[in-house]
Formats: sequence, C-alpha cells, structure tokens
Amino acid sequence: MKRKPLIAGNWKMYKTKDDALAFIYAVNLEVPDKDIVESVICAPAIFLRDLVKREGENLRIGAQNMHYAEKGAYTGEISAAMLKSYGVDYAVIGHSERRAYYNETDETVNLKVLTAVKENITPIICVGESLDTREAGTTDAFVKKQVEKAYLNVSKADALKTVIAYEPIWAIGTGRTATPEQANETIMGIRQVIKQIYGSEVSDSLRILYGGSVNTKNVDSLLATSDIDGALVGGASLDPQSYLTLVKAALNKAK
Ligand code: 13P
Repeated sequence: MKRKPLIAGNWKMYKTKDDALAFIYAVNLEVPDKDIVESVICAPAIFLRDLVKREGENLRIGAQNMHYAEKGAYTGEISAAMLKSYGVDYAVIGHSERRAYYNETDETVNLKVLTAVKENITPIICVGESLDTREAGTTDAFVKKQVEKAYLNVSKADALKTVIAYEPIWAIGTGRTATPEQANETIMGIRQVIKQIYGSEVSDSLRILYGGSVNTKNVDSLLATSDIDGALVGGASLDPQSYLTLVKAALNKAK
C-alpha cells in the first residue's frame, strides 16, 4: 500500500511576523507537488491568517493546538471551527510539550481528535515515550495505550482522516534521534494497534510520521524504512532551505 509522504514543520514558539512571511515566500514555489508529497507548516496561531493567505498551491498550513469544545467561555483558546474558517487544514494534537506544560492528557487529546475530524481538520496526533519508559523496555505498551485512548469513539471513517506522529520525548530537541530501526519498529507496533482497532484498511493507509531531531542529514535514512511515512520536524523546519531539503527528500519515498 502506497501512502503519500507528509512532512510537517512544527515551528513551536519561534519566528516573528517578518521571518514567517519571508519563509513562505522562500518555499512556496519550491515545495513538491501536493499530490506527491504533502508539505505542511504548523505555525503559531497568530501567524495562521497571514500564512494561509499566502500559501501556494502545494503548501498547507496547520495549527499547533486547538480546543476540544465547539465554542464557549475559554479565554485565550482557539476552536477547530475558527481554524477552519481561516482555511487551516491541520492541527498538531497532544504534542509532548503540551502534555508536559499545559495539562494535555490522553482524554483531552481524544476530545480534540473527535472535534478536529468533525471540522475536517486533519489531526496530527502525537504520541511518544520518555527516556525512562524507553529504558524500562515498556515503550510499546505505553505508546499502545496513548493510541488506544486517542482513538476512543473515533469511527473508522474518521480514523482514515487522521495522522499519527511518533515522537519519543528523549529525541525532541536533543539532537539524539531514534535510529531508523528503533523508530520504524515502534511505528510498526503503532500500526498494529490501529489494525486491531479498525482493521487493515485503516492501518495500511494511515500515515505515521516520526519526529525528534529530524534533520537534513538523517531524513533519508528515516524515510527509507518500511513504515515511517514522513516527519514532524521542529528545529530543522525553521530555515527555508532546510525545510525544502526535507520535503524534497520525501520525493524518493513517493517513488
Ligand atoms: P525537533 O525536530 O526540534 O527535535 O522537534 C521535534 C518536535 O517536537 C516536532 O513536533
């Protein structure tokens, strides 16, 4: 089963307006055909409107978070419907930094996934273990639980609209990438969990990305594996040339 590669940059809390706009102008005409590789930038909320307005044919813009409620008295928060009304197509859900610093839990991740698919926003659902869990040898069980909880009450049709990003916490921003074998093995385990829940129609087609210190040097070996369908990239997505190298590396995967 061929799955379209997806490379998503996660800018986190970096850049100011001028940097963000300069980035878009630099990459817009250079990113691969969207029918071959999906190129996404997940930007801080304040940039989303400007970026969507300027996105070219082949680039898509995503948010880094959203609220699970449709609307309500949630000061400072942004709903899925708001994102959609500005033309935002993706949202990162349950990033480990949000789990660590903003009380994101498996339960809120699940609610956000349900709301995102309802609004036709593609959730990029983040899962991944800590170094302690990896060293204790319980990664697969830990990640399995995160995946099962994220997909609670999500229908098969809606599951097909989702993307998973496996991001081991110990590899994020540390320069310590999981080896392609390690990442691929855990991702194969995640695909197995999806198969148990939804069957092979979903597990064969659902994209599972790897994230954690992906850069222009290691991207080829990660994407050369059987089950890694793309990358969720922090630091190496900030520079336009670096981002372009990553999305172009995915062209080999698409062949
Ligand atoms: P780095 O690529 O900077 O390690 O960040 C990974 C990440 O958290 C992407 O969401």
